[in-house]
Amino acid sequence: MQSDERPCALVILAAGQGTRMNSDLPKVLHPLGGAPLVVHAMQAGAALAPERTIVVVGHGGALVEKAVQAHDEDATCVTQTEQLGTGHAVQQAAKALEGFEGDVIVLYGDTPFISEDTLARMLAARAAHDIVVLGFEAADPGRYGRLVMEGDRLARIVEAKDATPDELALTLCNSGLMAADATTLMGLLAEVGNDNASGEYYLTDVPAIAATKGLTATAVTCGEAETLGINTRAELAGAEALFQQRKRAEALENGVTLVAPETVFFAHDTYLGRDVVVEPNVVFGPGVTVENDAQIRAFSHLEGCHIGARAIVGPYARLRPGAELGNDARIGNFVEVKAAEIGEGAKVNHLSYIGDAEIGEGSNIGAGTITCNYDGVFKHRTTVGRDVFIGSNTMLVAPVTVGDGAMTGSGSVITSDVPAGDMALGRAKQVNKTGLGARLMARLRAMKADKKGQ
Ligand code: UD1
Ligand code: MG
Repeated sequence: MQSDERPCALVILAAGQGTRMNSDLPKVLHPLGGAPLVVHAMQAGAALAPERTIVVVGHGGALVEKAVQAHDEDATCVTQTEQLGTGHAVQQAAKALEGFEGDVIVLYGDTPFISEDTLARMLAARAAHDIVVLGFEAADPGRYGRLVMEGDRLARIVEAKDATPDELALTLCNSGLMAADATTLMGLLAEVGNDNASGEYYLTDVPAIAATKGLTATAVTCGEAETLGINTRAELAGAEALFQQRKRAEALENGVTLVAPETVFFAHDTYLGRDVVVEPNVVFGPGVTVENDAQIRAFSHLEGCHIGARAIVGPYARLRPGAELGNDARIGNFVEVKAAEIGEGAKVNHLSYIGDAEIGEGSNIGAGTITCNYDGVFKHRTTVGRDVFIGSNTMLVAPVTVGDGAMTGSGSVITSDVPAGDMALGRAKQVNKTGLGARLMARLRAMKADKKGQ
């Protein structure tokens, strides 16, 4: 019997095609809350501080591997060339598990809602049993494998396709997750055959084979919602709705005001501080952190950005990756910010694009200002110092620097650096033609009257 302090390794099954998604993208790469399904499985397992994370890939393997590595470069992908069943899939991890002593937890890449608590309970149950399977009471047992229990012992798992009517009447179903000692599991898998209705090597045969060796299996249970697997786009949409519901509840619980919670969309890693206010119709893409007391006003879209305390964003603002807003900064309506630091208390209030830039503390960027950061091939930086006043409709043609306390006149096209404290006027000089406005207007009105008379 084992203690729950043993090292553990994750084996995540993600080789299936996901035919019913009707997609060119491998099923486990479809996003939930902005992260691929497989990453959700990895994140759930990461709570156990696994020594190894092994993902079994097959269909779209190279793409899946890329996403897996992007999330955790220490994770290993192993390839299952032919999808011969869940037992065969786990066997592909044998080599990657060499030299590992401890428990393996098998998870599915398409089952994103498994909680840390459930995984911990599975490992804890290993203290009394050799094999631990995660089961759930199914509202509609349908195609799920059934758990045949004898007291607290799991005698065997029978796949729906292979089940007798009596077995089909069982409602305790197999989630697919299993925990066992790595060496024991690999030994038992070597004995799994494919003499069944699907002609596949079933992972689910392991408990029955274990029993023939005097080993014991048991089931730990969780709610059905946790074991929800994604097979279709409709199920993906349902899972997204569930995910959003949870994120909203979590935000409210943590002291965030959501004026209309059902209209706010979160990513898996959205962080909102205490007393943040989010107005209706706001979308958080991946990688957003918002510090305490900031306000995100209606119809704003944020991704990959950091919002300082008490800053105000929107309404109708777009913050793209690399936008860094200092405390008390202000981003107003129809303003787009990308890869730019907006200093403490600085303001970009109306109709602007600020990209690849740094705006110093307390500076004010006038309406319609644009950083011309792209020459068609390269991106260039704009640096604006502290307490600068950029006049409305200034074009800052990068690379360019505006020094501390400088100003630019409205409508200027700034192509060279502005020293600190200077005023830059980069626009045509105005000429007034005496009386010409009135004379021109009179002539045009006369032309219009003539036309009507014809
Ligand atoms: C499996 C279980 C069933 C359980 C159900 C829960 C078996 C034999 N059956 O059935 O008891 O109730 O899950 O959803 O295990 N995979 C591979 N390689 C393969 C086959 C599958 O990587 O060769 C992966 C799939 O991508 C998927 C997971 O394993 O993530 C489960 O496979 P799937 O074909 O969906 O199994 P089910 O028939 O649903
Ligand atoms: Mg399935």
